[in-house]
Amino acid sequence: MTDRTHTAAINGATGAPLWLLAELTYRCPLQCAYCSNPLDFAAVQEELTTAEWIDVLSQARAMGAVQMGFSGGEPLVRRDLEELVAEARRLGFYTNLITSGLGLDEPRIEALREAGLDHIQISLQASDPDVAAAVAGSPKAHAKKLAMARAVKAAGYPMVLNVVLHRHNIDRIDEIIALCDELGADAVELANCQMYGWAHLNREGLLPSRAQLEAAEATTARWRERLVERGRDMRLLFVVPDYYGERPKACMGGWGSIFMTVAPDGAVLPCHSARMLPMSFPNVRDQGLEAIWYDSEPFNRYRGDAWMQAPCRSCEERHKDVGGCRCQAYLLTGDATATDPVCSLSPDHHLIEAARREAETATRPIAALTLRNVHESRVFCRQ
Ligand code: SF4
Ligand code: FES
Repeated sequence: MTDRTHTAAINGATGAPLWLLAELTYRCPLQCAYCSNPLDFAAVQEELTTAEWIDVLSQARAMGAVQMGFSGGEPLVRRDLEELVAEARRLGFYTNLITSGLGLDEPRIEALREAGLDHIQISLQASDPDVAAAVAGSPKAHAKKLAMARAVKAAGYPMVLNVVLHRHNIDRIDEIIALCDELGADAVELANCQMYGWAHLNREGLLPSRAQLEAAEATTARWRERLVERGRDMRLLFVVPDYYGERPKACMGGWGSIFMTVAPDGAVLPCHSARMLPMSFPNVRDQGLEAIWYDSEPFNRYRGDAWMQAPCRSCEERHKDVGGCRCQAYLLTGDATATDPVCSLSPDHHLIEAARREAETATRPIAALTLRNVHESRVFCRQ
């Protein structure tokens, strides 16, 4: 820590950020119905230039950040990705690329490897091309993703796959894991869709029922046993939707605690969803990252526990889960200081219970999902 008087320290927050997520662009060739980008992504026009991103990386590293993710949108849309990866590595970051695989080919994988990229994570939508196409809006993407997953592994990277689960693909988890096995995956994140951004808009069409969830967890457990029997090292991580918890997650390890996102236009956020909160976030085009992290009002607003309402304020668990997720609290209650309704102690927990009940009987077909699209985004921009 420098000798400046940091409000973060006064509030008892941890020191420097450890994680930097660089959302290089909101542009993407896919239109996933659960995209976590803001609904009004089309309002973001002027992306940071290569030089501006390099400055962001240098500032974050100088502050002590060690891990960095390149994401989007689709980060491969940026032709300067390799240059940014090389710079991040030169600065000493551990680098991770979070991608759909579209925009990748063997020469580009080689260029990223030469740039020093440490890790690549490719997302899959389903085991079935038709479901994948219906959820991502592209009939060709599935085959391309499979080919790129294989190419990434052939280039010497571990194959790390992320499959977003929801009510239209979770019943096929057996086939999904079998596909990952056949591809030669080293690790698979079976991540149930969390309800932010476009996923929140499509919640009724995405949230699985409890029975679906329990069946999928049981299938995953059987797969783990079989993999051990075969001596096959493929790690399966099953991520339950927040909506089926009784306690919330300590989102981002706490607001402004270890995690920092820089959005395509340079807005600096404590998490990738915070942009929809009713507050204005600082921008690297106007201020240095250190001043933003330590001294800006948005980064300090939910640090510590002074901002908490009852029941969090006097709850013994408040330092464990920091009252849950500010974005989820706002999306569900309209008040970002509320207890995350996921918590069974929250006075708003009935909202979560109502969503679970709705999921028991929901009949909305996959074709009725609203895919992420520019037209709708422009409508949200005007709201
Ligand atoms: Fe966590 Fe607040 Fe629930 Fe206590 S009341 S468990 S602090 S979310
Ligand atoms: Fe924003 Fe949890 S996603 S605080």
